Amino acid sequence: MPASRAEAERAAALRAEIERHNRAYYVLDQPTIPDAEYDTLFRELQTLESAHPELLTADSPTQRIGGAPLPEFGKLTHRVPMLSLNNAFSEEEVAAFDRRCRESLGAAEDSIDYAVEPKFDGLAVTLIYDRGLFVQGATRGDGTTGEDVTQNLRTVRNIPLHLTGVQIPARLEVRGEVLIPRRDFERLNAQQRELGGREFVNPRNAAAGSLRQLDPKITAARPLRFFAYGVAEITHPAASHSELMDQLSAWGLPVAGERDVVRGLTGLLGYYARIGAARERLPYDIDGVVYKVNRLADQEQLGFVARAPRFAIAHKFPAQEATTRVLAIEVQVGRTGALTPVARLAPVFVGGVTLTNATLHNQDEIARKDVRIGDTVIVRRAGDVIPEVVAVVPELRPQDAQPYDLLAAIGRVCPACGSRVERPEDEIILRCTGGLYCPAQRKRSLAHFASRLALDIEGLGEKLVGQLVDAGIVRTPADLYRLDPATLAGLERMGEKSAGNLLAAIEKSKQTTLSRFIYALGIRNVGEATAKDLARHFGRLEPLLAADEAQLMRVPEVGPVVAASIRNFCAEAHNLDVIEQLLAAGVHWPDAQPAAVVDSAPLGKLAGKSFVLTGTLPSLTREAAKEMIEALGGRVAGSVSKKTDFVVAGADAGSKLERARQLGVAVIDEAQLLEILEQ
Ligand code: IVH
Repeated sequence: MPASRAEAERAAALRAEIERHNRAYYVLDQPTIPDAEYDTLFRELQTLESAHPELLTADSPTQRIGGAPLPEFGKLTHRVPMLSLNNAFSEEEVAAFDRRCRESLGAAEDSIDYAVEPKFDGLAVTLIYDRGLFVQGATRGDGTTGEDVTQNLRTVRNIPLHLTGVQIPARLEVRGEVLIPRRDFERLNAQQRELGGREFVNPRNAAAGSLRQLDPKITAARPLRFFAYGVAEITHPAASHSELMDQLSAWGLPVAGERDVVRGLTGLLGYYARIGAARERLPYDIDGVVYKVNRLADQEQLGFVARAPRFAIAHKFPAQEATTRVLAIEVQVGRTGALTPVARLAPVFVGGVTLTNATLHNQDEIARKDVRIGDTVIVRRAGDVIPEVVAVVPELRPQDAQPYDLLAAIGRVCPACGSRVERPEDEIILRCTGGLYCPAQRKRSLAHFASRLALDIEGLGEKLVGQLVDAGIVRTPADLYRLDPATLAGLERMGEKSAGNLLAAIEKSKQTTLSRFIYALGIRNVGEATAKDLARHFGRLEPLLAADEAQLMRVPEVGPVVAASIRNFCAEAHNLDVIEQLLAAGVHWPDAQPAAVVDSAPLGKLAGKSFVLTGTLPSLTREAAKEMIEALGGRVAGSVSKKTDFVVAGADAGSKLERARQLGVAVIDEAQLLEILEQ
């Protein structure tokens, strides 16, 4: 039975209402109705359409859930080629771009208006609207011909299936980027993990893989979003790119909220800095910013070179990921005996530094990622995090790539000292049981003792410590205080002057603080923040060394694991011996106070609040932020746990930010931190 007029009108009303809610939710980010009500409307429309197929329209929101799978994608030849952008990696290159534009246009310095936008790190698509109706869409392909992914693009929730508003052109071809917002990406990967599926390496790969699914139902289940950044041909009477973007937005197309118009080179570099600082807070990944001469008449005059416009350029952020080859896998022994597999890499330039090593974490990770010697891998470097191998590029695996098994490779003994290796219960890492007998552990312990946040012995780094241990001159931290010019003179590349400087630095380190001293001991699980807690609570060293587990657990933030570590440390006679020798050598701290005075809770409005800092903050150094927090009685810890109150995240924050999100710990930025501090 054909639909009645009332049914046809109801279907139209439902389409309009559902799309209005869609737009409110996915484009404007302002949900208007509860999910359940939305679902009821949606089902009513579906029922009407299946009873009366003639009511189904190409722009019905029901089309967003995806139709039948395709055998393959059709090809679409772009009427206007999809070009690429030239890149600038430095201020000089941006200055040269601005100069070229000015010279071609005969414009004075700092006189050109530029439209500036984030450079979305997704994949380029083109959307074709015929009298306002979305009719076809394609990937960029080789720039001339792309794949027709129309039915997949229909499932992208923020792509309008028809345009709204006035002056809609007969034909409009919109260019933009499809991507997956970071938060949705994390959710997607959590889902993949639960289902035992393969995790995606990054949002861009996930977006590309999702859009190129032959089954649109799979695409529909992926959190893809679209952002417009241009049109193929200008048919609208706009005078500038920014006006054009305003117009696209008015027709219902999503555009970047961060776009702006700035003047001259100064404006460009200011925008780059601004977006760079806000990058971590943006909902999606970007790999730079794009500058476009704003006046369309000027754009036309500047024209194109080869395959890129002369009027635009991408100013890229330093890359955080790169691909390179695994030359070998080596095992590093940490301060506490942890054995960490490390990939030795063909040197590769990432995020401003050359990497030659990246951590593989542990055997489980090697197996999960299936990393083999000879593989080409993606490596990542982010903020304060140790560079890591993210994934293998399987297509580039050579036939002779060798699988790696840590235990087999080391013959089940510590590569540094030959001691037995064990895998403690509940741990995924292997440990050398050699303790301070192991030269690798000894070197790391000594380097830790001398490090900046511990006794801060300037000039005593890993290299020199290595020399001293290998030469048999130093075994324990106490030996450092017995060094003299004659012994040092025997060392390679140790002049009289550097020997004098080192001895002076060692002398200077004798005066320290209790918390630094505790931290310097290198007790497992006692980081800098815990050392401060212990110093504040006990006031003096002796009661700390004598405390039993129950007494230790009275320290706020000290749980059974930390308490057990401290007890184990103190149970070793040689540890107490070294402490005694250090004190005898003159190591002391003037801030010693009777426990009673400092035992009371610390004052300050952040007392009891624990923070973790990660990434690069836009204006504060990490040290400054820490001092400000501690001045108000707050605590700054090195790792995120359920007890963490706030994670303060800056640019390029890495695994700590991820962990905070997993644990549901509040994540704030520098501005919010300053607000808390000022309140
Ligand atoms: S404009 C004529 N604006 O970057 C070329 N592109 O490296 C017009 N991209 O293929 C491109 N964000 O996929 C433009 N705000 C933005 C962009 C952007 C990301 C991508 C785009 C392009 C690639 C070139």
